[in-house]
This record gives sequence, C-alpha cells and structure tokens, in this order.
Amino acid sequence: MSEYITMQEIDEARDAINLQTALKPEIGIVLGSGLGDFANSVENPVIIPTNEIPHWPVSTVAGHKGHLVIGMIKQKPVIVLQGRTHFYEGHSISRIGFPIRVMQRLGIQTLILTNAAGGINSNFSAGDLMILTDHIALAGMTGSNPLVGPNLDEFGPRFPDMSKTYTPELIALAQQISDENRLGCQNGVYVWLSGPSFETAAEIRFLRAIGADAVGMSTVPEAIVASHGGLRVLGISGITNKVDPDGTNMASHEEVLAAGKTIVPKLITLLNAVLAKL
Ligand code: HPA
Repeated sequence: MSEYITMQEIDEARDAINLQTALKPEIGIVLGSGLGDFANSVENPVIIPTNEIPHWPVSTVAGHKGHLVIGMIKQKPVIVLQGRTHFYEGHSISRIGFPIRVMQRLGIQTLILTNAAGGINSNFSAGDLMILTDHIALAGMTGSNPLVGPNLDEFGPRFPDMSKTYTPELIALAQQISDENRLGCQNGVYVWLSGPSFETAAEIRFLRAIGADAVGMSTVPEAIVASHGGLRVLGISGITNKVDPDGTNMASHEEVLAAGKTIVPKLITLLNAVLAKL
C-alpha cells in the first residue's frame, strides 16, 4: 500500500459498500473509543466489517469494533463508523482520511465526529461532553497533516481554508439541544496529538498555555479532510479523564473505556436530537 490515498482506491471502496446496500447515507458518524454503543441506535442496519472493504485502514485498538453500520436514525439515512483507525496504529496520515473520503463519495454532506478526550480546562469533569468550537492540529502543524501528498482536486483546493472547520450552525444546534435537555455540554478547543503515549506534565502545561481545553489522539485529521471536501462538521468530545492540575496524566486506556459508559447515554440523547433536526 502506498503512503497516499488515490481516487481509484476511494471509489473501489465506495463501490464495494454500494454492493451491500441501496441506502444512500446523508450523514456520517464516527464513534470514538468506548462510544461504539451508539451504533445500536441504527434501525435496519447493514453491518459491514471494515476488513472486508478494499484499501480500508483497519483498526486494531481494544474497544474499537471496525464496523460500518448503514441504516436509519430518526428517519435520516446514516453511515456509522464503529471503530475508527488512529494514526498511532501505523497507517500513514493520508490513509487516516480514507474513511471520510469514502463516506463523502457515498453521498454524505454532514459528518459528526466523536472522541474520548482528556480534560485540560479546569472547569471540566470526567463524564462531561464538549462541543468542539475549534482545534489545534499539533501533529498536523509539525508535519503529519492528512492532506500532505498529491491534492485530490475533486474534493478541494491545495491550500484549503480551515477557519470554519466546525460548522457554526451545527455548534449552535448542539448547544441548544444541550440546554433543552440539561446535558451541560461544555465547549472548547480540542488539541490533537499523535499518541499513543499520554502526555508528560510539561506537555500538559504547554497545551494549557496554547489554549487547549481537551486533548486526544483522533478527530482532527478527519475534520481536516472533511473540511477540505466541503462537508459540514460537528465534533463532540466525551471527557473521559481529567488531567490533574499539576499536569500529570495517569490516564489508562481502561479508564477511558469505563468513562465512556457514563458518557454514552448523554451522547445518545444529543446525537438523536441533532439527527432529528438536521
Ligand atoms: N490524553 C490523550 N488522549 C486521550 C486522553 C488523554 O488524557 N483521554 C482520552 N484520550
């Protein structure tokens, strides 16, 4: 497999999925670590293991199933990726954008990205949801940008604007639903690190100083690719662990998965209401 994804690979994957279902999804949803249960909300699901789709970067992380679930939620045709693939698994950064490109070629116009994140903002608690207002692509800024490589002109320009990556109307909609349902959603800036190692105390002090509210190892490469393609994007973090005030982060992957269990019911309420209003 080469480092950079191609139009031909994207369309071969799209064609393989189209052989399994006639449904044309309008909304894509990517479920983060420990949040995969939301896929149970899909009615009349067609479930495709991602290792059966050509060129798909397959996920190996515990808690990530590696399924595409296509069906209906709240009368909307959706495609749900249960078990995303992370850069730290060893795929090239270009390949991390592959699922988003395929979903767009299947017809989605809106993408909802979810993740498990560490809380840096001292007002956040484990179990909170955070609506992403913006991101810091720290790994992207230092060379691992998913758009590096030949530009796919069919999707967007070589030098895309990223000033409205998270669609303002979707941020407002999620905030309104949070208020109506008393979900207490926070909002803020998500900083993306490649992982897989958690942060040192000095790194957390640095992330706090540059204005990050939450930290994680996903979402941003997908948001960059989606924004390049002109998709509307909503990002939601589930805060699975608080990063201690002195900067130490002793989060464990098990802790991240366990906190997901308290986050999932709130996320289900939020996403169902968002989908109903899209
Ligand atoms: N740091 C990085 N990624 C994470 C964390 C964290 O504390 N929690 C969940 N994903």
